Amino acid sequence: MKDKKIKILWSNDKETYASEGDDWFSHAEKAGLEIPTGCLTGSCGACEIDVNGETVRACISNIKSNKKSLLKVSLTTDPFWES
Ligand code: FES
Repeated sequence: MKDKKIKILWSNDKETYASEGDDWFSHAEKAGLEIPTGCLTGSCGACEIDVNGETVRACISNIKSNKKSLLKVSLTTDPFWES
């Protein structure tokens, strides 16, 4: 069976093509972006990205296709975040 590629459109207008289950960080890197990280266990929220309007914690989720197989991603920055 053919592996259907998922098109990801990044906030800098770059596109990458992922397979279901790929990790977000390597694709962000391919697009020339860096997703910030903190705990890497899903609790701090530093790695949150916006995928088709839905907030996703990149460190605990993989790339999943939707019906259109197009994911629009932007990096979220939390103005209230203080380290
Ligand atoms: S790095 Fe902390 S939630 Fe992902």
